[in-house]
Amino acid sequence: MRKPIIAGNWKMNKTITEALELVRNLSIELKDIKDVDILVCPAFTALCSVAQAIEGSNIKLGAQNLFWEEKGAFTGEVSALMVKDAHCEYVIIGHSERRSIFKETNDYVNKKIKAALKAGLLPILCVGERLDEREDNKTFDVIADHVHGALEGLSADDLKNIIIAYEPVWAIGTGKVATPDQAQEVHAFIRKIVADNFGKEVSEGLRIQYGGSVKPDNVKILMEKPDIDGALVGGASLKAESFIALVQACSK
Ligand code: 13P
Repeated sequence: MRKPIIAGNWKMNKTITEALELVRNLSIELKDIKDVDILVCPAFTALCSVAQAIEGSNIKLGAQNLFWEEKGAFTGEVSALMVKDAHCEYVIIGHSERRSIFKETNDYVNKKIKAALKAGLLPILCVGERLDEREDNKTFDVIADHVHGALEGLSADDLKNIIIAYEPVWAIGTGKVATPDQAQEVHAFIRKIVADNFGKEVSEGLRIQYGGSVKPDNVKILMEKPDIDGALVGGASLKAESFIALVQACSK
């Protein structure tokens, strides 16, 4: 059985004070949850303060990005070692906002995943098609391209330390959630690619999150699908009330 993981991607939101208020609430209200992994991914500036605030709790910490070089003249960038040093366990890689706004390619995503793994971080690889691609019946081509591109050169052992998040771009921040069947179909497809390339055992252990307008009232029916192992949550992770309800909905 794969343990569900619910992650909050806070994106470019929350000052340190606001971040601390939110995680203090979460760590109190969610302290008894043991059957769901709970993760928050604040902006870089809040990582260290949040790390201190959640120390000893069941809430884990992740970053939203990193750069693949170890150090040097890369103004504005943050390395995998720095992310690790800020007490992160996880890092989101290849989010669609990074692909579309910051022009990240599969090659960038692949280098970032390798850098994360080398530093001992657990990458959450985001993949997903845009609306025009879905309407052109290219969903599976895009997903295959994202998955193959990101995982190129990795070993079966590496795959044990990776999470994949399926985030259809048309569902992000739009309130338009994929139906459980639409999501399940893509999740099963991703698991099959991983099985074909890295073996069945690895693919069965792989956790695949769904992301895109996940809310407390739709998370449960999504999670009932056999290949959906959690959620990567944007908007609903910014308020204690909705994130708490969402995690509780996934706990037995
Ligand atoms: P929303 O939950 O706001 O749609 O965002 C999803 C997302 O992009 C998480 O990474």
